[in-house]
Amino acid sequence: MSEAFLSLAWVVAGVLFISSLRGLSHPETARRGNGYGMVGMLIAVAAAMTAGEVGNFGMLVAAIGAGSAIGAQLARSVAMTAMPELVAILHSFVGLAAVLVGFASYLAQDAHEGSHALLLGEIALDVLVGSITFTGSVIAFGKLRGSLSGRPLLLPGRHALNALAALLCLGLAVVLVRATEPVGMAGDLPGGFGALLAMTLIAGALGAHLVLAIGGADMPVVVSMLNSYSGWTASAAGFMLGNDLLIITGALVGSSGAILSHIMCRAMNRSLASVIFGGFGAAPPKSASGTPQPPPGDVVETTVEELAAELRAGTEVVIVPGYGMAVARAQHAVRQLVDALKERGVRTRFAIHPVAGRLPGHMNVLLAEAAVPYDLVLEMDEINHDFPTTDVVLVIGANDIVNPAAQTDTASPIYGMPVLEVWKARRTVVVKRSRGAGYAGIDNPLFYHGNTRMLFADAKDGMEKLVAAVQAPAA
Ligand code: TAP
Repeated sequence: MSEAFLSLAWVVAGVLFISSLRGLSHPETARRGNGYGMVGMLIAVAAAMTAGEVGNFGMLVAAIGAGSAIGAQLARSVAMTAMPELVAILHSFVGLAAVLVGFASYLAQDAHEGSHALLLGEIALDVLVGSITFTGSVIAFGKLRGSLSGRPLLLPGRHALNALAALLCLGLAVVLVRATEPVGMAGDLPGGFGALLAMTLIAGALGAHLVLAIGGADMPVVVSMLNSYSGWTASAAGFMLGNDLLIITGALVGSSGAILSHIMCRAMNRSLASVIFGGFGAAPPKSASGTPQPPPGDVVETTVEELAAELRAGTEVVIVPGYGMAVARAQHAVRQLVDALKERGVRTRFAIHPVAGRLPGHMNVLLAEAAVPYDLVLEMDEINHDFPTTDVVLVIGANDIVNPAAQTDTASPIYGMPVLEVWKARRTVVVKRSRGAGYAGIDNPLFYHGNTRMLFADAKDGMEKLVAAVQAPAA
């Protein structure tokens, strides 16, 4: 393929990626956006394969075939609730690929030419960010999967340790960039191999330590931050390989991940620095016996029939969906409830917390799947002031995002996180299976509030029974 055609292919793919991001910013256009991304990637891969730099076509096709088959199978079988961990492990692949490509570029360079300092600098940057992304994402995967504890690891002097690791990495990068002669001890290896290897290991330890120090409640921000890192890693690899499309695509992923991290931080009322350097989202305070202290008092239970009667009697209902709705796949039953209430003249809207569920936009995706009209779905800032005039709030499988301790308990790990103020409604009914804690592992005083009733049920089962009860002729 000629140079001009290659450049054209890069530009077309780049435009398609930008259109893809634009499409993905709204549920109505997301499917089209995904399509643009897929076509863009197809053009990019085809152009890269025909650019005249591929030595072994058979191996490349076999690798793409195997990777596509594994990817397609994973995408088909992954549960929606396991998406964040899948995303985390995919980020780790980007980091690992960047490290491997960095080492390959390093080994392929001509060490005797002093002009290679720039290339060595690009290799150092690529490997540094790649290694941090790789180990950080592996730890995030373990935490999200539950294989590693969600509690932050707070080593004494951890900030000093991080600073020392960062300085060592910078120092080793300088050693690498200045090394233009082969090192005798390392045989035929170009100069600076020891520095590159040591920098990779230290950066890997830094990445793991940074994510280990972050508590469970802040994991949403970590996932989007690692997404951003993986983009910058790809961009650095693009400079190293002289590939414009990789630079553009990496920058798009890096900046959109950074913007998402900023939005998530705002939603959690955290500064990005406090999340990056960890310590927030710590485990709940324990009692002397080692178990979390439940609030005083007891919960008041309700029944499906009682709840149906309250819903039918109201005019304003707000549904707050959470992770439990996703686990139970209750969104279709919830949609039927909205329709049943509408037939009875009750207006039902949805209140969506920015970190509800386990991935950004989780609830929006599920509600779109159940064809809930978009104008009924409101963000936290749009609906929080409406709770005092709401007859019934139905909290379905949500917990942390409606926990008043975020406003009242300075010792709480989620203190300061904005929450949906559902306790201000005339009646709040929480539908979940038990009094069990949510992701942050803390008790929820909402369950013991005077206006709150608990409907202990699986979200799907409970909603199906509720729809039937609402539709049943009034006694
Ligand atoms: P959670 O606080 O995790 O609470 C979910 C609740 O759902 C649980 O208390 C559980 O109680 C209930 N549940 C589970 N299965 C259920 C079922 N089949 N039927 C009914 N209820 C069920 O969820 P949330 O309120 O959506 O808050 C999200 C949390 O996840 C936040 O702490 C957030 O920081 C964190 N997080 C979010 C993200 C993103 S990006 N959204 C990523 C990682 C972490 P029972 O066991 O008693 O039923």
